[in-house]
Amino acid sequence: MLQRTSARRTAVLWPAPLWAALLMLLCAVLCHGGAARAADADADAGEDGYQLWLRYHPLPAAQRTHLAPASRALASLAPDSPTVRAARAELRRGLAGLLGHAPSDAAGPRSGAIVLARGADLPPGAAAQARLRGLGPEGYLVERTRLNGTEVTLIAANTEIGLLYGSFALLRALQTGAALPLASQPALPRRLLDHWDNLDRTVERGYAGESIWNWWELPGIVDPRYTDYARANASLGINGAVLNNVNAKAEVLGAPFIAKAAAVAGVLRPYGIRVYLSVRWSTPLELKQTRSADPLDPEVAAWWRAKADELYAAIPDFGGFLVKANSEGQPGPQDYGRNHADGANMLARALAPHGGIVMWRAFVYNPAAHPSRAVDKNSDRAAQAYDQFKPLDGRFDDNVIVQVKNGPIDFQPREPVHPLFGAMPATPLMMEFQVTKEYLGFATHLAYLGPLFQEALRFDTRAGGRALTVADVLAGRQPANSGGKVGAKVGGKVGANVGGIAGVANIGSSRNWSGSDFDQANWYAFGRLAWDPALDSAAVAREWAQQTWSLEPRVADAVTALMMRSREAVVDYMTPLGLHHMMGTGHHHGPAPWVDDLERPDWNPVYYHRAARDGIGFDRTAAGSNALAQYAPEVARRFADPATTPPELLLWFHHLPWDYRMPSGRTLWEELVRHYDSGVAEAAAMQADWERLRPLVDARRGSDVAQRLARQHEEARWWRDACLAYFMQVNGLPLPPGARPPAHPLEYYRALHFPYAPGRG
Ligand code: GCU
Repeated sequence: MLQRTSARRTAVLWPAPLWAALLMLLCAVLCHGGAARAADADADAGEDGYQLWLRYHPLPAAQRTHLAPASRALASLAPDSPTVRAARAELRRGLAGLLGHAPSDAAGPRSGAIVLARGADLPPGAAAQARLRGLGPEGYLVERTRLNGTEVTLIAANTEIGLLYGSFALLRALQTGAALPLASQPALPRRLLDHWDNLDRTVERGYAGESIWNWWELPGIVDPRYTDYARANASLGINGAVLNNVNAKAEVLGAPFIAKAAAVAGVLRPYGIRVYLSVRWSTPLELKQTRSADPLDPEVAAWWRAKADELYAAIPDFGGFLVKANSEGQPGPQDYGRNHADGANMLARALAPHGGIVMWRAFVYNPAAHPSRAVDKNSDRAAQAYDQFKPLDGRFDDNVIVQVKNGPIDFQPREPVHPLFGAMPATPLMMEFQVTKEYLGFATHLAYLGPLFQEALRFDTRAGGRALTVADVLAGRQPANSGGKVGAKVGGKVGANVGGIAGVANIGSSRNWSGSDFDQANWYAFGRLAWDPALDSAAVAREWAQQTWSLEPRVADAVTALMMRSREAVVDYMTPLGLHHMMGTGHHHGPAPWVDDLERPDWNPVYYHRAARDGIGFDRTAAGSNALAQYAPEVARRFADPATTPPELLLWFHHLPWDYRMPSGRTLWEELVRHYDSGVAEAAAMQADWERLRPLVDARRGSDVAQRLARQHEEARWWRDACLAYFMQVNGLPLPPGARPPAHPLEYYRALHFPYAPGRG
């Protein structure tokens, strides 16, 4: 753009006789340039996002020359298998792209070779064998070493899946400049994507097209895309996929769908990915094969045992069940007067003989459940999961994991950590993050979730009065009796309750998988942090940017900087200072803080922000719902006082007057407006940053991102204006001096409707 303007200006100043010569010159340049651009366009055509971070674009020439001698050949000491073949194929593909030549196949170690070997394949006494001992079943070691007297690059692991992970790690290191040796193993054994995909291919909260699982065509027709899905996940170390929506249908356990799931499992297996299914509690009853769904009814338990046998006959490495029960209208054991442990254990016993697990979700809330927590006559939804699950600690079978969302409400742009983390020392817990951005602007807004994941995983729960992060809890590093209640089954053993991590997938049939190029980064960051929760989200952003956009440092740096400011921008223009659940009804698109007429009180935004003449915010202290008491005492004390509550969570825990004095010296109202303004300014700055970057990236993706950022900027203004217009009507206060009035009156925003917004499944 800048160039075009300056050319125009220059032309006006130039004397007329030069024009003819200039035109000829211009024509020559344009004709030649046209050819060059056509070639660029061809290259761009491949840049449709399909390759994700596995583009393997050529490294700079000097690096290629330097690396070529060490990657001339590829040998495997491990016996041939689908997984070893997948590792070899990936190395061939990656090296061909990065270095410009594929390695030749070699029968064994030779100079300049990359060698794949499990510990058992290595010559006795090889140094790597000792190092592999600490790396577990999925870890890997990549190092330059001598084998049979020759210098090679060794990719070693205890199992063949470790070899595949090590191969991806080497390819990543070549692009990010990470130095060898690389030695790594996952912190958590279960790292899953949860697909909220329906059997008709719609995706609940999906913004990237239809489900990638083409259920109608499966099992006979198997889309090659499933293999690319498996490659992408294996490159991150994701080792499980729940194929269908937690709002499950009974039919998924019918023979036709088991056959379809088995076909998908067959594609994913070589990549170390196990298939799991979400199941509906009342399945046998709905299929009219039992008379009840009572977990203590022997007929029901027998049905599930037989179903498990059938599943394992079709899918020998089937992972297990994910269950949403007695939540948001789903049936469950409470319908029969039983509790969550009764339900989970009955299913767990059906799966146990086969080695399967039950992931039982703690996302439950019910307005009638706890009238004792009365707040304006309503119970506090944020407190209910803890109230139902904490008493069940130690009462779940060994192969049950309780799956807990990162925060106590529902995947908001910012929530405090869920109080169950650290509160169930005798139960393995699984983190549930949402990778798809239901509440952070769908696929149209750029919001890099790495910082959100990191914030939750690193939160120090102070459970048991000592340092214990959420990542520690997931990894089972919490003494089982640290809550003062000795776990019934593990009797105080440290480290017995190893859980896992799940991410609600943002993957669909859209060509670029995630609906927008930048949303791929959220899949990437989820997988990388699931492998190693100690990774820094900025470092993860940078490695994604390098592999996905460009190895040029100025591009990778600028993309990283843009990503790192994006989530906070969204928090600021949607729900600053701890506000939450302010979005439109049903589709969850756009602002609707005024909604107060939904049938359940805890579905209304007004229930959460409680804006009134006297102030704003949800009092969760002892004077209010006292949900705060569910945190460990040190945390509860810190959050009980507005002065020591982190400002970003202030209104989550406190109802404060509009003129409450913030540490900045501004009133709460002024501070709130300032955050909304800052969110909009950040959205504008992100747009401007991208315009500067655009000439350095391919045109196709560059333009798609630009259009999304423009829409994000518009919608940021909309969020700010609609929320401020509403709050001003409630508090009767003027805007602080200099603040821009909303573009429209409140009625305008209230009248907006989105009957066709995506993602309702
Ligand atoms: C959110 C989401 C629902 C989903 C639910 C869940 O409420 O809007 O679509 O079913 O979470 O996690 O079960």
